[in-house]
Amino acid sequence: MPNLVKLPGLVDPHVHLREPGATQKEDFETGTKAAIAGGFTTVLDMPNNPIPTTTAEALRQKMDLAKGRIYSDVGFHFGASKESIQYFAEVEDQVFGLKLYMNHTTGELLIEDDQILEEVFSTWTKEKPILVHAEGETLQKALSLANKFGNKLHVCHVSLKEEVEMIKAAKQNGLQISAEATCHHLFLTEEDAKRLGPFGAMRPPLRSKKDQVALWQGIAEGIIDMIGSDHAPHTKEEKMSSEKVPNGVPGLETTLPLLLTAVNEGKLTVDKIIELTSKNPRQIFNLPEQRETFVEAEITKPYTLNPNHLFTKAGWTPFAGMKVTGKVKKVVLRGAIAYDGQSVFGPYGQVLKLDTGSFYG
Ligand code: NCD
Ligand code: ZN
Repeated sequence: MPNLVKLPGLVDPHVHLREPGATQKEDFETGTKAAIAGGFTTVLDMPNNPIPTTTAEALRQKMDLAKGRIYSDVGFHFGASKESIQYFAEVEDQVFGLKLYMNHTTGELLIEDDQILEEVFSTWTKEKPILVHAEGETLQKALSLANKFGNKLHVCHVSLKEEVEMIKAAKQNGLQISAEATCHHLFLTEEDAKRLGPFGAMRPPLRSKKDQVALWQGIAEGIIDMIGSDHAPHTKEEKMSSEKVPNGVPGLETTLPLLLTAVNEGKLTVDKIIELTSKNPRQIFNLPEQRETFVEAEITKPYTLNPNHLFTKAGWTPFAGMKVTGKVKKVVLRGAIAYDGQSVFGPYGQVLKLDTGSFYG
């Protein structure tokens, strides 16, 4: 095996950069530095901010805040709520998808009412995916709605064997559906959750070995189309506070090292990583090309994941102490060195808009 591999700039379809409103956890600068250091030159940001991205004005403010401060390119997802439906037509050109929470998680966004769900699915453009947080049985409901109204559906953080099976069947029935898995569900199980305590608390939670095996099988069979980090940073203090533990773990800087480790273990190939982290998300979210953009990573030298070497404000990782083989050595974004294996340079990132395949501003 060669020691160095070259990959196209990675895409993460699922990150929480936390700005505006929770900048003690992360902000556009630290979150996109973490992205670049992790090999991600494009990330798509989620709308569950304290003031959620559910109005055209909130989206505009977010884009303005990000402009000039981001190290990777950033695109946005809009949030689904009863009140946000009125803005769908206005924002659909500016975002990559609509995030719909059908289960409880961080933030106030959740729709359980069937009539409102029908309105969301029928009103949202059929050109762009609805990204659902829908676990277990709830996923069946999301699939039926997408089938009824003809939507593109993207299933976030698939974690259960039964979900993999539902997605497989839906794909066989011709639904326009894509699916994502996270590295925490691929590399950790409920056994690790005991050891990790609050630092292993996330939604969906860590699952059984049987579920984990089903996810890897889903990747091999092309049922899982991409990897999303679900980078959801919270501070150590927040995680350790005696009140309710917030769910979510950071993931931008550990995803590629873990995936490359799986190559070393014979569970993935480099081509498969490129498919999962670049080819498929670019196609499914219709992302603009990034010229002269690539990542170089070392893939044979073992080292231990160290939380002190992270750019995320979280400053911790559930993978601390894990032996990996796979280290990002260089990231080039549109011809400029954005990361040299140690420092992040820039900011060279741009706010992405989809309508013209061009950039905002
Ligand atoms: C996410 C967060 O903290 O924003 N938490 C999580 O456990 N995944 C919420 C989410 O992704 O739904
Ligand atoms: Zn998330």
